[in-house]
Amino acid sequence: MDLELTGKRALVTGSSAGLGRAMAKLLAAEGAAVVVHGRDGERAEGVAREIREAGGTAHAVVGDLSDDGGAEHVARAATAHGPVDILVNNAGFYRHLSWAEATPDEWRDTYNVNVVSGVRMIRHLVPAMRERGWGRVVTIGGGLASQPTGALPQYNATLAARHNLAVSLARELKGTGVTSNVVSPGAILVDATRELITGIGPGHGWGDTWEEIRPNAVRAIAPNDQERFGEPEEIAAAVAYLCGPRAQYVSGATIRVDGGLVRSAF
Ligand SMILES: NC(=O)c1ccc[n+]([C@@H]2O[C@H](COP(=O)([O-])OP(=O)(O)OC[C@H]3O[C@@H](n4cnc5c(N)ncnc54)[C@H](OP(=O)(O)O)[C@@H]3O)[C@@H](O)[C@H]2O)c1
Repeated sequence: MDLELTGKRALVTGSSAGLGRAMAKLLAAEGAAVVVHGRDGERAEGVAREIREAGGTAHAVVGDLSDDGGAEHVARAATAHGPVDILVNNAGFYRHLSWAEATPDEWRDTYNVNVVSGVRMIRHLVPAMRERGWGRVVTIGGGLASQPTGALPQYNATLAARHNLAVSLARELKGTGVTSNVVSPGAILVDATRELITGIGPGHGWGDTWEEIRPNAVRAIAPNDQERFGEPEEIAAAVAYLCGPRAQYVSGATIRVDGGLVRSAF
């Protein structure tokens, strides 16, 4: 199926690594010109180069989205070669903290990076999409938004906020040709999650090696019908669908890509 992304320009925040990298690569393979973004210039340029070497169009933009100036710089650089039609708000971070460890400062920092950064980019880029009468905002949420665990409370709450603001934005964009939707991953294996799971595995009695830890970690923290962690490319596929014209009638929706981890029927 042609997703009809040729001629569109997409900014994927946090695409120097992990899920964002897979999204940037797939959007480019589907014909979009992609702006790769991260704070680490070498990694961001590396992903852009990979895309170009595969025949796609990409350039890298570097900046920290946790303050207004950094976000403005990223928005300006991303639009330097033309308007952004597609914004994927993906940049974020998670630290495996308990309630006791998650200080008020940690809550504030996590909310700022995971929620307010996305709001900053929406404020910079959506008005022009509105004027052109076409655009896409895809927000990366997560299963922990609706099914939080006792750990990472400061992170779970930011995912819930992302789901909420994305639906609010869809209502605000009524009749404009611009849509706002959420892709909600379960537990997806990227370097950062593998590192986290390997770190806490022995303490939880899941084993010592990755081969031992992996199945036990799936059962303990992400039990799902596919009995495995997800792959970044599986998240990218849902994002790419929402970014194209074929998804015009999808508004304020959540596509869960979690193997059935979230148990709700709706
Ligand atoms: N992996 C999962 O299982 C999972 C599940 C649900 C939701 N998510 C969400 O998916 C998104 C990507 O997660 P991931 O697992 O792919 O993480 P990751 O591999 O650590 O990648 C995070 C990306 O965000 C960027 N980033 C972090 N803080 C930033 C900041 N202040 N300003 C600008 N860029 C920043 C990083 O760029 P630099 O390192 O170059 O700065 C990197 O490109 C996150 O928002 C996360 O909440 C992930």
